[in-house]
Amino acid sequence: MDKLVIRGGRRLSGCVTASGSKNTSLPIIAATLLTGKGTFTLHHIPDLQDIKTFSQLLNHLGVETSFADNTLKVSSRNVESLMAPYELVKKMRASIYVLGPLLARFGHARVSLPGGCAFGPRPIDLHLMAMEKLGARIAIETGFIDASIPDGKLRGAHIDFPVSSVGATGNALMAAVLATGTTTISNAAAEPEIETLCKFLIAMGATIHGTGTTELEIVGKESLNPIEFHNVFDRIEAGTLLAAAAITGGDITVNGVEPQQLKAVLKKFVHAGCTIDTTETSVTLKSPEKLLATDVTAKPYPSFPTDMQAQWIALMTQAEGTSHITDKIYHERFNHIPELNRLGARIEIHKNQAVVHGPQKLSGTKVMSTDLRASASLVLAGLIAEGTTEVLRVYHLDRGYEKIETKLKSLGADISREKYNEF
Ligand code: EPZ
Repeated sequence: MDKLVIRGGRRLSGCVTASGSKNTSLPIIAATLLTGKGTFTLHHIPDLQDIKTFSQLLNHLGVETSFADNTLKVSSRNVESLMAPYELVKKMRASIYVLGPLLARFGHARVSLPGGCAFGPRPIDLHLMAMEKLGARIAIETGFIDASIPDGKLRGAHIDFPVSSVGATGNALMAAVLATGTTTISNAAAEPEIETLCKFLIAMGATIHGTGTTELEIVGKESLNPIEFHNVFDRIEAGTLLAAAAITGGDITVNGVEPQQLKAVLKKFVHAGCTIDTTETSVTLKSPEKLLATDVTAKPYPSFPTDMQAQWIALMTQAEGTSHITDKIYHERFNHIPELNRLGARIEIHKNQAVVHGPQKLSGTKVMSTDLRASASLVLAGLIAEGTTEVLRVYHLDRGYEKIETKLKSLGADISREKYNEF
């Protein structure tokens, strides 16, 4: 297995470019299943384990894929199977994204139930509710979702989500674009990942009104077309790199971003005392003498993202005062806290809120990654901890951060990847 070995205390400085968004890549790759008319060319796709896993899932269905220099080519001409097996789905919950497009194009899909998640329950009831509203019959049997369409074709409907869900909105959109008639979605997720999926589907020939808002209207089409598309930047990777700079008292510029998408996060950096300068495509962060304790509450976009919560907690261990970090999306997403405390942080958990007492001197030791963003928070802590921090099980990090140690090294971090035997 791989571990990251970090010798803390180096101030980060310089420029770095954001990679393509993982959480946008996954739904747009799934959307290629909607047509068999030719080949899609998707640029700026990050070279990540999750993209490989999703490509394997598509290959299992009969889809041809090839990946080179961050460009993914996909052709869904010869889909031979409509079944997403447990072995692949258990590796990545986002596999559920094949449900909507397979059902809409072929009238049938069998997708293994995803099972547990490292940070608490993550139900898929809203995905299933949306498919049923569009006329699908759903049966759960032998660990699989079996979805079919008794009427032969999905038909437009009104879908009102009781909870804002990125995945369920994505699935509903991908099903509705091939349904007969008009579908309306209320309380749709307005995350940039869904906004980009809408733009992708529109480029394929779909009609969608309300892109980027919580009210969407989709007019179904008979068929859609393959396209060439440039993926957007990864807003969570960009936020993580800015936090890495801030925790070390550094100054960095992240290029290749749309600052508007980072608004809630940048606002919190300013509250914490950082100076933020933006251009149309970059963000520059300058650290203050002393970071200030800053509360955040993770909620759906445009609020502070849950995917930055763990990194913010790591940052606040170095801030003057007590900060409260509340997660209203995943109430149990706090696996990083015991590990941060092992590095010397003083963090308590009260229900879905972490209370961080800062600043605390951290000292390096071995820590264990438990999920993607938890791992990122441990890397941030390692950058400021005295001595050497070893972040074990970095395969979690590799699911979502492209060349993270190369990027951090280029900014001046002392970080290397080494092999180890866990037992
Ligand atoms: C996406 O997950 C992201 N994953 C997650 O990022 C992110 O944390 C999450 O959105 C929230 O922003 C991908 O895009 C691949 P949700 P998703 O459905 O779509 C509840 C990362 O670190 N819910 O928006 O699965 C759910 O429990 C990952 O990159 C239901 O109740 O999240 C949660 O409380 C981790 N029933 C809330 O909705 C459902 O059927 C939002 O979850 C679906 C969701």
